Amino acid sequence: MVKNYNEILYDNETLFTERLILRKFTKEDAPDVLEWGSNEEALRYLSWQGVTTIDEAKAAIFDHNLSRPGIFAIELKETGECIGSLDLKIEPDHDKLVFGYVLKPAYWGKGYMTEALAAVLELCFEKLDANRVEALHYAGNVGSGKVMTKCGMKLEGIAKQGLKIKGIFHDVCHYGITKEDWLAKA
Ligand SMILES: CC(C)(COP(=O)(O)OP(=O)(O)OC[C@H]1O[C@@H](n2cnc3c(N)ncnc32)[C@H](O)[C@@H]1OP(=O)(O)O)[C@@H](O)C(=O)NCCC(=O)NCCS
Repeated sequence: MVKNYNEILYDNETLFTERLILRKFTKEDAPDVLEWGSNEEALRYLSWQGVTTIDEAKAAIFDHNLSRPGIFAIELKETGECIGSLDLKIEPDHDKLVFGYVLKPAYWGKGYMTEALAAVLELCFEKLDANRVEALHYAGNVGSGKVMTKCGMKLEGIAKQGLKIKGIFHDVCHYGITKEDWLAKA
């Protein structure tokens, strides 16, 4: 039987970690999305252009990407604030998932994205039965690479000037983890 990734994602649209809830975005998240989605530091290494008004934040949630299956709002349990997002895209023909993430700068360096990604990798391998999960970051975005490495992913190579982002060519670091690696790690 062909695996229905979207159905599995719908069944697992909320994930709980020690300090976080990964869940669907709601309209109440718009002010938080505007806050980190308009922060230059947060957007620096992203191809996403971000948002500049509350209406754009609402549109990002409802009309665009932020409401499809696999996009998680990252909520801080303690305050209920939506402090970022982790975006999982499915490549069903390859049994592969590709992700990206962003966190509000005020919360950087506290282990939140490592906590979120660990839960999402578990979802990918344990529930979605993926064969591979991969992601990339622009060279210089040290924090992003560290999050992936801490979650068991490996740096597989660097593409020189692999992407042009906001007019500047960036070397691109490619990371991946296979089901084999995941099982060996467990
Ligand atoms: C990349 C990002 C998601 C990291 O999230 P985070 O919650 O701060 O990461 P963690 O706290 O789990 O950090 C993991 C490690 O990276 C380190 N780290 C985090 N941000 C860092 C930074 N800006 N510079 C250097 N190291 C950093 C942490 O200190 C930690 O290392 P340690 O365990 O040795 O102390 C966050 O910085 C971010 O949203 N950046 C902007 C958006 C972005 O670039 N997304 C990635 C696109 S590929």
